[in-house]
This record gives sequence, structure tokens and C-alpha cells, in this order.
Amino acid sequence: MRRNIVAGNWKMNKLFPEADDLINNIAEQLRNFDTSDVDVIICPPFPYLELVSDVSEDGDFFTGAQNVSKFENGAYTGEVSATMLKSLGVDYCIVGHSERRKYFKETNFDIAQKIDRLLNEDITPIMCVGETLEQRENEKHFEVIRTQMEEGIFHLKADDMQRCIIAYEPVWAIGTGQTATKEQAQEIHAFIRQLICDKYNDDVAQEVSILYGGSCNAKNAAELFAMPDVDGGLIGGASLKSKDFIEIACSFQ
Ligand code: PGA
Repeated sequence: MRRNIVAGNWKMNKLFPEADDLINNIAEQLRNFDTSDVDVIICPPFPYLELVSDVSEDGDFFTGAQNVSKFENGAYTGEVSATMLKSLGVDYCIVGHSERRKYFKETNFDIAQKIDRLLNEDITPIMCVGETLEQRENEKHFEVIRTQMEEGIFHLKADDMQRCIIAYEPVWAIGTGQTATKEQAQEIHAFIRQLICDKYNDDVAQEVSILYGGSCNAKNAAELFAMPDVDGGLIGGASLKSKDFIEIACSFQ
């Protein structure tokens, strides 16, 4: 059965000593809360992965990366492979974030290869999908998300599909303070789950956690997470403050 999940995406923020403080604060505060019904994942920049996975050794939370190479290993300057991530204690990895699609021209086909690399190393992909404002205004959002799913992840067999997490992140909501309403989120989450059901079956669809991301914060998390198909959140800005992030992780009813 799908799990409740809160994942913090630190993006390209924090210097090493700040990251050290933040992760130790998060770890300390997590110990004061009962988070047995939620998996907490921290996704720092690459250079801080080992720091985060060392602090998380007692299993309070999991370590996630923000990206992975689509290549296996070798002469790919600047790239980081799935096997490297695994060797650092990484259990999750974000793929296909809209910032990577936009600034680094990642395609659905790149994303499909990255997902394969991660699953080979037993790392859980957190695959991001979502429409731009223009696509929503032109009522193309369902179509865009369907294509992202079909080209990015539906090549997987059912067993592998149910090992993945999907994050619905409307591009217009990311870092803008303009959160999707709980009804908008539920509508798309239910649509994504139906796509998985149609492609595989309802058992697979019920196994996949679907997270909401885009200006999710301590004030709006509880109402979003209360929606039947919203299984948690992928948190950007609000994951950089330990108090806010812990409040979000404790927002499941
Ligand atoms: P945000 O970012 O919470 O700052 O909007 C979410 C994300 O991009 O994962």
C-alpha cells in the first residue's frame, strides 16, 4: 500500500556549514515527533549527500539526490552515476524536475533512461510531471501529463512501476507562492492514478505514492495531504527551514 511521503528538495542552496546545521536541526526535531506514518526524504545538492546520509544513519529519514546521469559510467565529465549515488547511501532520486526540463533541456526520453539506471541500483525514482501556466490556460494540462507519463515512465513493467513515486508539480506553482488549490491537486492526482490503472491495473495504481509540489508550506500542507489521492509533498523553499519542514512532515491526519 502506498506510503505518506514528504521530500525536501534543497535545490542549489546552502553552503556546507549551513547544510550541516540544517540537517542536524531536522534530525533533532524529527526525534521529537512520531513520524511512523510518513517517510521523510532529504534531497541536498550532490556534495552534501554523504553528510545527509551519515546523519540519517539511525533511519529517521532517507537521503535523496536531485538528479542522476542517464549514462552508466565512464567519460562523462560532470555527471554523477546511479552506482555512485548508491555507494553514498542514497535511496531516492528526483528525476525530470521542471527546472531540469527547462534549463537543461531534459526530455521525457532522458528521464526514462535515468529511471532505468536508478531502478537497477535499487534507488526509488521520484518522477516529476506538471504543466506550465500557458499549457493550463490552453487546457492542455491533461494531455501534457499523459505524454510525460507515457514517454517517461510507462516503458516499465508493472513490478518496477510500483517501486516509483510520482510528483505532480505544476510549473506555475513552483517557487511562486501560487499553490494549486486542493481541488486542482486532487483532480490531477486522480488523473495520474487513473493513467497508471489504465496502463497496468488498479493494484499497481494503489501502490504508487503521488506527491504534490509547488509552494507547499506549513500552512497549506494539511489540507492538500487530506485529499484522497495526495500522498504527501515535494517541498522546495519550505524545506530550507527546519521548523517549517517538520511541520509539513507532521501534516498527515
Ligand atoms: P517550491 O518548490 O516548494 O519552492 O515551490 C517545489 C519544487 O520545485 O520541488
